[in-house]
Amino acid sequence: MLERMSRNTFLYMDKYQTRYLQHQKRKKESLIKLMKKRHSERIFSDKKVPDKLVKKIIDLSKLAPSSCDRKAVEIKIVDSRDDKQLLGGLLVGGVGWIHRADRILVLLANRGAYKENLYYMPYLDAGVMINQIYLICTELNLKCCYVNPNVRENHLRYFSDFIDNKLFCGAIAIGYEDI
Ligand SMILES: Cc1cc2nc3c(=O)[nH]c(=O)nc-3n(C[C@H](O)[C@H](O)[C@H](O)COP(=O)(O)O)c2cc1C
Repeated sequence: MLERMSRNTFLYMDKYQTRYLQHQKRKKESLIKLMKKRHSERIFSDKKVPDKLVKKIIDLSKLAPSSCDRKAVEIKIVDSRDDKQLLGGLLVGGVGWIHRADRILVLLANRGAYKENLYYMPYLDAGVMINQIYLICTELNLKCCYVNPNVRENHLRYFSDFIDNKLFCGAIAIGYEDI
C-alpha cells in the first residue's frame, strides 16, 4: 500500500504496518470514548466490588506520573461499615452519600517524601492519580466520585488516627451503579 506521509513523502506500507497503524488509531479512539463516558456518580448499589478489581485499580493508579517520580501518595482501602460511616460524617464533600459506596479509597501522602514541597505538590500528585482512577473505573464499568480533603477544623481530632500523620489528599468512593 502506498501511504502519503507528508506533502512530498510517500511510504510503502506492508500489511503489518497498516494493521499496526489501525490498532494505534483504535487505541486513541477508545481513550477518547472513555474520557467522554467518565462522570461522577454518588448513588451506588449494594453489590460488592471484588477485591481483585480494587487491587487492579490501585495497581493501575500507580502508573500515574508524579512529581520527581515520588509515587508517595498511597491508597488506604476503607470498607468497614463503621469507618465508612465515620468518613460520611467527616468529609464535608461526602456527607449524606459517601458511606453507601462499597469502598472508599483514601489518598494519603507521605510527608517525608515531599519535605518542603508539602504545600501543593502532594495534592497535584493526588489529582493526577484521581483522574487515572476515574478512567480505570469507567473502563471496568464501576462508578466513582472524588471527594475533596475538606474536613472541618473541630473534626480533625477524630480524623488523626485514621490518617496516621500522613497528609490527607481526599478520597474516591467506588461502587456499582444503582439500577
Ligand atoms: C478537585 C475536585 C474536587 C471534587 N470534590 C468533590 C466533593 O467533595 N464532593 C463531590 O460530591 N464531588 C466532588 N467532585 C466531583 C465534581 O463535582 C465533578 O467532577 C464535577 O461536578 C463534574 O462532574 P463529572 O465528574 O460527572 O464530569 C470533585 C471533583 C474534583 C475534580
